[in-house]
Amino acid sequence: MLELRNLSKQFGGLRAIWDLSFTVRKGDFLGVIGPNGAGKTTLLNLITGYLKPSSGSILFEGNPVQSLPPFRICRLGIARTFQVVRPFGEMSVEDNVLAAALFSASERIGVAEGRARARSPLELTGLWPIRDQLAGTLTIAGKKKLELARALAVRPRLLLLDEVMGGLSGPEVTEIVEVLERIHATGTTILMIEHLVEIILKLTSRVVVLNFGEKLFEGTPQEVVEHPAVIESYLGRPLEAAQAS
Ligand SMILES: Nc1ncnc2c1ncn2[C@@H]1O[C@H](COP(=O)(O)OP(=O)(O)OP(=O)(O)O)[C@@H](O)[C@H]1O
Ligand SMILES: [Mg+2]
Repeated sequence: MLELRNLSKQFGGLRAIWDLSFTVRKGDFLGVIGPNGAGKTTLLNLITGYLKPSSGSILFEGNPVQSLPPFRICRLGIARTFQVVRPFGEMSVEDNVLAAALFSASERIGVAEGRARARSPLELTGLWPIRDQLAGTLTIAGKKKLELARALAVRPRLLLLDEVMGGLSGPEVTEIVEVLERIHATGTTILMIEHLVEIILKLTSRVVVLNFGEKLFEGTPQEVVEHPAVIESYLGRPLEAAQAS
């Protein structure tokens, strides 16, 4: 579905992404992990067209997308969430999702159709009962759900998540995990950036580990947490020890 070929992005002398290649297959739930500054968000910015690669290519369903603007990539069926949430605070929860539905549709749709398309993302994320609330008044968990709902309103085939669990409490994380399981079960392919290793272990079927912009390792979640270089660069200590503490 998505293929990265020798992708690099430099900011001046800094190699944020370096010669990165991997594939996301239809139906995957792929995790991307790595220390702070490893290039994870840069990777999403490249896939979604917010940044142009310094070299290399990105193929979505066989077609190169690295020179397309973000709205075109979105209309091809790739949606994302932002690590730092960006709702329209002065608009209602529902109107935020409606805006996403309206502006991501490749055909012209009216407000009534937009509202219809916003409903299932609002229900799936549990925001339907508070759809009239101003987005700016949501808790951080509510804003993270709204990020998800807005991305779902795009009706993506590939969903890219940038730390959707960041800053949430234990029960809130459990709730989002369930939402993500439901989204994946509906046939959406997911690439998830996540710091919480137990979430990666629970949800993903394959993991790519980034370190200083390069692919350090790729494998099953279990292989990843047992891999010496991953433990060294990222986990810091064996998982058993981390879980025990
Ligand atoms: N627009 C930019 N201009 C210059 N440097 C940048 C830019 N965006 C990112 N960088 C640098 O590129 C590197 C990778 O940043 P990136 O945000 O992709 O990391 P990350 O893996 O998402 O980190 P985190 O876990 O903290 O979110 C960092 O060194 C960062 O400072
Ligand atoms: Mg980031």
